[in-house]
Amino acid sequence: MEKFKAGILGLGIGLPEKIVSNKDLEKIVDTTDEWITTRTGIKERRIASPGETALSFSIKAGREALENAGISPEDLDLIIVATVTPDMIFPATACLLQDALNAGSAAAFDLEAGCSGFVYGMALASQFINTGSYKKILVVGAEVLSRITDWEDRNTCVLFGDGAGAAVIGQVEQGGILAFEMGSDGGGGDFLKMPAGGGAIPATEESLAQKLHYIKMDGNQVFKFAVKAMARSARLVAEKANIPIEDIDLFIPHQANIRIIETSAKRLKIPEKKVFMNLEKYGNTSAASIPIALYEALKQKQIKKGDRVLLVGFGAGLTWASVILEWTG
Ligand code: COA
Repeated sequence: MEKFKAGILGLGIGLPEKIVSNKDLEKIVDTTDEWITTRTGIKERRIASPGETALSFSIKAGREALENAGISPEDLDLIIVATVTPDMIFPATACLLQDALNAGSAAAFDLEAGCSGFVYGMALASQFINTGSYKKILVVGAEVLSRITDWEDRNTCVLFGDGAGAAVIGQVEQGGILAFEMGSDGGGGDFLKMPAGGGAIPATEESLAQKLHYIKMDGNQVFKFAVKAMARSARLVAEKANIPIEDIDLFIPHQANIRIIETSAKRLKIPEKKVFMNLEKYGNTSAASIPIALYEALKQKQIKKGDRVLLVGFGAGLTWASVILEWTG
């Protein structure tokens, strides 16, 4: 039973300063700016410098989100960090963030749902708010994908970037998170994975020699899955919210590839002007991509009070997740 409405009270981002352009990548692997641009839409990405991690980007993003929400860290009941590149397997990056922010004794855990992680986190947070169990929750999507990227593999190294985006979720009078939809298909897990580093293949000289601690991807399979999953999940969440897709004011998809986004938008009959994209600047930042895009859309005044915003993520797992928000301003 929904007792309270949940919405976004403030947003923040944390990005590396270092920019790596397609031209820079031409010097590292056998690729061209033209290939990357036409196949993916990406022109440059932000890459972490030594010492920068998912935690350092989360701290920046989290502080800004708290400031924009007008609340102090001690007010947080829960911190969720969605990431596939935590600082360590344990303790959770969310716990390190709780300490760094001085967030009282907020509960904290990491959430691993690939690039859908932030939207999974929003859905989860909304439930705690709806029931009245918690009042203020920080949801962060943070990645340093550059640390698990094989910089000799042109199939993957041109796609990814680093950074974080954060949202404070709390009670709102009206609007807010109207509906969510999420799912998974573990049968497709092999299409996008980092095989080593967990319990199955711990770090050994052999695992290092075989480069098993890097992203392995079947790009064509992921592409096909993404297009189907995005359209299906968007339709399902629109049905749940009882909002026709044509009444969506802004579509903010996971920023993986311009062709995936355009194909999905076309299937959903969402016109180009209602589709937000910033992947040309950041590449695919996994769990960070949607909150960074949401933050920028708001900064660029592409979202105003009362607007219906559709967020759709997909990624490793395989997973997908959607949220429809009514912007509370
Ligand atoms: N530069 C130049 N050539 C490249 C290249 C690069 N960076 N990467 C791959 N190629 C080559 C391939 O080796 C292949 O060559 P071949 O035909 O001689 O074997 C050729 O380009 C075409 O490869 P293909 O896989 O058909 O390209 P594509 O048009 O499907 O695009 C992706 C490849 C990876 C961009 C695309 O499949 C994709 O975006 N998939 C989804 C990935 C994704 O979003 N992952 C994250 C999900 S959260």
